[in-house]
Amino acid sequence: MTTLIVNIKGLVNVRSENKLLRDIELRELPIIENAFLLIEDGIISKWGLMENLKQEIPVLPKDQIDATGQFVMPTWCDSHTHMVFAGSRENEFVDKINGLSYAEIAAKGGGILNSANKLQYASEDELFNAAWERLIACSKLGTGAVEIKSGYGLTIEAELKMLRVIKKLKEKSNLTIKSTFLGAHTFPQQYKENHQGYIDEITKNMLPVIANENLADYIDVFCESGFFSVEEMEQICIAGLRYGLKPKLHINQLNSIGGIESAIKMNAISVDHLETMTEKDIADLSASNTIGTLLPTAAFFLRMQYQPARALINGGCAIALASDFNPGSSPSFNMNFVVALSCIQMKMLPQEAINSATINGAFAMEIQDELGSISIGKKANLIFTQPINSIEYLPYAFGTNLIEKVMIKGEFI
Ligand code: NIG
Ligand code: FE
Repeated sequence: MTTLIVNIKGLVNVRSENKLLRDIELRELPIIENAFLLIEDGIISKWGLMENLKQEIPVLPKDQIDATGQFVMPTWCDSHTHMVFAGSRENEFVDKINGLSYAEIAAKGGGILNSANKLQYASEDELFNAAWERLIACSKLGTGAVEIKSGYGLTIEAELKMLRVIKKLKEKSNLTIKSTFLGAHTFPQQYKENHQGYIDEITKNMLPVIANENLADYIDVFCESGFFSVEEMEQICIAGLRYGLKPKLHINQLNSIGGIESAIKMNAISVDHLETMTEKDIADLSASNTIGTLLPTAAFFLRMQYQPARALINGGCAIALASDFNPGSSPSFNMNFVVALSCIQMKMLPQEAINSATINGAFAMEIQDELGSISIGKKANLIFTQPINSIEYLPYAFGTNLIEKVMIKGEFI
C-alpha cells in the first residue's frame, strides 16, 4: 500500500541522522515547508518539496491525502507511564484539596499501596481492557509509542499479572510499547521492617520468571527517602542487569539522596522525575550518557516545584519529556499538555519541548531507529494538526485539541 501526502504546510522534525539531542541542538527543529511525504507499507519512504513532486514521483499513487494548511509531525514518544492499573484515586485528590498530607493519605490506605490493593482483585482481562481503552485514547491525542511499567502488583502473582497484560498490549496494539519491571515501587506492608526480604523476593523469585517469560525490557526502582535507598536500588539493578534488563529509574522526585550518581555509574538509560536536583546532580547528569526524563504533569498535579529544565538543557543534559500517566500523581496521558506545560512553566522553547517529546523520547525507549522523527525507513506514525499558522501555536494554545488526525503505521486511527 502506497500513500502520498501532499501540500503539507510544514513537515516537522525531518532528520537524516539519528542523534540524541542536547544543548543548542535541542532548539533546532527542522521543518520543511510546502512538502510531500510518501509512505510505503507503513514506512516513510520519501519526502521532498511540492515543487519537486513531479520529478521525484513521476507516477503518482492513487491514495493521496491533501494536508493544505496542516503540519505533519512524528507522534509523541511517551517514555514513562504506569498505564496498567485498577480503579482510580480521585478520593485522594479531594483529600489533598482538603489539606491532607501525603503521609495522612498513606495512613488512610492511600498512595501506591491503595492501587496495589485494588489491582490484587482485578483479573488479567479487566486490566487489559482498561489499559486498552487508555491506549486508544492516548493514541488519539497523538501518542505513537509508550513505555509501560508494572509496580502496582508488589507480589509475584500480581507483578506477573501486570507484565503479562503489558505483553498482550504489545502483541495486539499497533503502537510501539516497551515494558518495565517496577517491582521496587514501594515496600509492601508486610516487608516495611524487612527490606531485604522484599529485595530477595524481587531478585530471587520475580526476576527469573520475568526473564524466562521475556516480560520486561527494563528495570525500574523508586529511589527516594522512605522508599528504596541508593544501596537497595543498586542491588536490584545489578540483579536486573544480570537478566539483561537495563535501568530506567524514578529518581529525585522528592529528595536528592545520591541516586543520580549511582544511576549514571550503572549506565541507566534514563533517570526520571528530577523535581529536586542539586547543582552536582545537574553537572553529573549533563556529563553523562543517561537521559534526564522530565515529568512536569506530576509536579503540576502534586503542586511541587517543576524540574529545572533550563539548567539541565544549558548544562548540556539530554532530556526527554513524558507523561508519567498514573492514578496517583499524573492522571493524564495527554502529551500535548506535557509539551505546553514544559514551555509555560519550565521555560522550554516549543522546539526544545517537541524534540524532547519525540526524538529524545524515542532514545529514552531505545526505539530511535523506528520512531521519533520524519526519517526514511522509520514508521509512519504521524500527527496531522488542524490548520495552524506556526508550530509554536501548538503549546501556546494549550488545552485546545489541535490534532486533526493520527496515523499509526501508515493508517489513520
Ligand atoms: O511516578 N513516584 C512514584 N510513582 C509514581 C506515582 C505512583 C502513585 O502514586 O501511584 C510516579 O509519580
Ligand atoms: Fe512514574
